[in-house]
Amino acid sequence: MSAELIFVLGPGGVGKTTTSAVIALEAAARGQRVALITVDPARRLAQALGQERLPHRPEPVPGVDGLDAAMIDRSEAWAHVLAQCISEAASLSVLKSNRYFQSLVSEFPGSLEYVASDVIVGLVAEADYDLVVVDTPPATDALAFLDAPRRLGKVFDGEFLRLLRGGGGIMSRAARRGGGVIRKVLATFVGEATMEELAGFLQLMQEVLAYMRERSRRMRALQYRPETRFVLVGAADTAQLGDLETFRNQLSQRDLSLHALVVNRLIAEPPDEASCRKAAAGTGLEEWATRHQSLIAGEAARQRRRVAEKTRWAEGLPRYTVPCLTLEPRCLEDLARLMPHLAQPTASPLETMIP
Ligand SMILES: Nc1ncnc2c1ncn2[C@@H]1O[C@H](COP(=O)(O)OP(=O)(O)O)[C@@H](O)[C@H]1O
Ligand SMILES: [Mg+2]
Repeated sequence: MSAELIFVLGPGGVGKTTTSAVIALEAAARGQRVALITVDPARRLAQALGQERLPHRPEPVPGVDGLDAAMIDRSEAWAHVLAQCISEAASLSVLKSNRYFQSLVSEFPGSLEYVASDVIVGLVAEADYDLVVVDTPPATDALAFLDAPRRLGKVFDGEFLRLLRGGGGIMSRAARRGGGVIRKVLATFVGEATMEELAGFLQLMQEVLAYMRERSRRMRALQYRPETRFVLVGAADTAQLGDLETFRNQLSQRDLSLHALVVNRLIAEPPDEASCRKAAAGTGLEEWATRHQSLIAGEAARQRRRVAEKTRWAEGLPRYTVPCLTLEPRCLEDLARLMPHLAQPTASPLETMIP
């Protein structure tokens, strides 16, 4: 059985982690078996789910039937990759303790993203979930996460082959070559590491590379399945709403399409003036309450107008609007308050909500 997959994409700080958790909770509430995977090293998801920390492999979230959650741990994930492709225990421990390898794991840009996709490919294929929700890491480059496996594979293939062909004098030649990531990893140890160390690394990495190529091919295939959806999150209170179109464009350049847009943290509409006056009746604050009401209502309307303008590019796309809670969502109950807003698209297009 093969799970559906939702990638939650967007700039940093807009609410990707929160939205992923709410989508997962909503699906679990509908009876699906859900895995929520965060690739964000921040602890926010764990806290909102009422836990100190999340495990590397998905485990049940206490109090929520059908929901498992995990936070990808870079070193555990790499250990898993190695265990998959190097069967001999001695070789495995040689590679793990090799300084080139350690530097690669901790410093290679995209290393976390790569191993995360390895975990996701495994979960979708092997585990018994109906849905896997992936909370992607903060990205300046819109689709960095989706591209990581391919990029990593390319760098390895190109640079490694050149290095292997290089033979003697390998390190100085590599160090002279401009800009390469492998070069940087090697340069860290030039003059320090032994040739044996480097040779051992390159040899063992050949097997890892073959495995990585295969996984990155499967990750790509997953992205193109009809069961895979891309949800883009933007925040109403940030300047980047207009920039979100770039995400859509970058997806379409790859013949992938956005499934939905979530506009998070909209100013919640205040109750109408009469209700505010009624609520304040007898307190002597009637005047203040109505003035406050009209200020908030005006601000909310202005924000909606701005959001509508900045998201015109998303016309025709299902859109969900999520109000800004007075306090940050910190527990399951808070997240549950957001569930109705992601349960179905905003009834009317944002444009028609403009007074
Ligand atoms: N609807 C919301 N109402 C109030 N605060 C929110 C809401 N959504 C997210 N936040 C807060 O905004 C911040 C960023 O949210 P987060 O989900 O961590 O974003 P991202 O994963 O994109 O970085 C967090 O402090 C979070 O608690
Ligand atoms: Mg996050």
